[in-house]
Amino acid sequence: MTKRALVTGITGQDGSYLADFLLGKGYEVHGTVRRSSVEKFERIQHIRDRVTLHQMDLLDQLSIITVLEEVEPWEVYNLAAQSFVPTSWNQPLLTGEFTALGVTRMLEGIRTVNPDIRFYQASSSEMFGMVRQTPQNEETPFYPRSPYGVAKVYGHFITVNYRESYNLFAVSGILFNHESPRRGLEFVTRKVSDGVARIKLGMAEVLRLGNLDACRDWGYAGDYVDAMWRMLQEEEAEDFVIGTGVMHSVRDLCRIAFEHVGLEWEAYVMEDPRFFRPAEVEELCADASKAEERLGWAPRVSFEDLVRMMVDADIERLSP
Ligand code: NAP
Ligand code: GDD
Repeated sequence: MTKRALVTGITGQDGSYLADFLLGKGYEVHGTVRRSSVEKFERIQHIRDRVTLHQMDLLDQLSIITVLEEVEPWEVYNLAAQSFVPTSWNQPLLTGEFTALGVTRMLEGIRTVNPDIRFYQASSSEMFGMVRQTPQNEETPFYPRSPYGVAKVYGHFITVNYRESYNLFAVSGILFNHESPRRGLEFVTRKVSDGVARIKLGMAEVLRLGNLDACRDWGYAGDYVDAMWRMLQEEEAEDFVIGTGVMHSVRDLCRIAFEHVGLEWEAYVMEDPRFFRPAEVEELCADASKAEERLGWAPRVSFEDLVRMMVDADIERLSP
């Protein structure tokens, strides 16, 4: 029997990779999109005729219930959110509505329409914030450092709470940063790969960045959507940390990206206070041993290969 999945945020980076992945597994894939005056379906253009799209907004409980009733999914992946950390200081209330309360609206929809649906919540390593221990695992306490991180902590615990209160199969995947050529241009990896490509092609002279000392555990988005799926195939609903266990600084990112095109990063990168955050997450590093043991999951793409893949893709995209 064909399995049916509903992906909120299918137009985003992860939504598009997850849709590719589920189609490859033979799923019937449905995705939710927000109404917009222009279509933003670039990331799913290649599979547009293989997925069914439905209008839904995390602010609108009725739209969530209607889509759940229409699609009758077996699995729901809740990837939709306001996902850019700096925007969460400019729009803290909207971030809370989408990224925190939106999760409760999804869970209420499932509880109302069909409590047997399996639910995945896109939680984040940003919840660890000012880290209490390194590396971070499922037991590490949270200390979020942005309105986005705070909203994700709410989303995480409301997922746990609905699992414990109503016996829903609801899991929270605590994913560390994951990137790809489909990453939004404002996130630092893509900003760097796009900047390197522009400088190499003579379209720009400098790249202005914020805190070069920040360290992250960066993996490849294509690897991480596999982990989401594996969590929903388990017998018991449980939460998992997903990451590579390897940490790099923004400085390392710049060095590897510029080196790939034969340039020295120090000649082009400028620190610009406009890109510093009111409160910073200095470092994040995953201990994903539970996922490795229980899900048989491991990352396949190294940081160096990921950076080169992104630079190559931006050069190809921008080349005349
Ligand atoms: P993304 O590229 O920013 O995609 C976000 C998606 O959410 C888009 O499809 C967007 O639709 C949709 N969306 C935003 N607000 C919505 C609303 N009110 N109603 C319905 N849909 C809405 O994010 P991503 O990188 O794919 O991340 C996916 C999820 O994982 C997010 O929840 C993010 O917070 C979380 N996460 C990401 C990472 C990472 O490193 N990428 C790590 C941990 C957790 P539009 O196209 O209309 O804007
Ligand atoms: N965006 C950005 N732009 N970040 C910069 C810049 C810059 O010019 N310069 C330095 N950075 C630093 C940030 O200060 C941060 O410490 C780090 O680079 C990563 O920033 P982002 O790429 O914007 O990602 P993020 O870590 O804040 O959030 C991403 O990962 C989370 C998981 O930990 C997002 O995808 C979140 O949605 C996700 O939950």
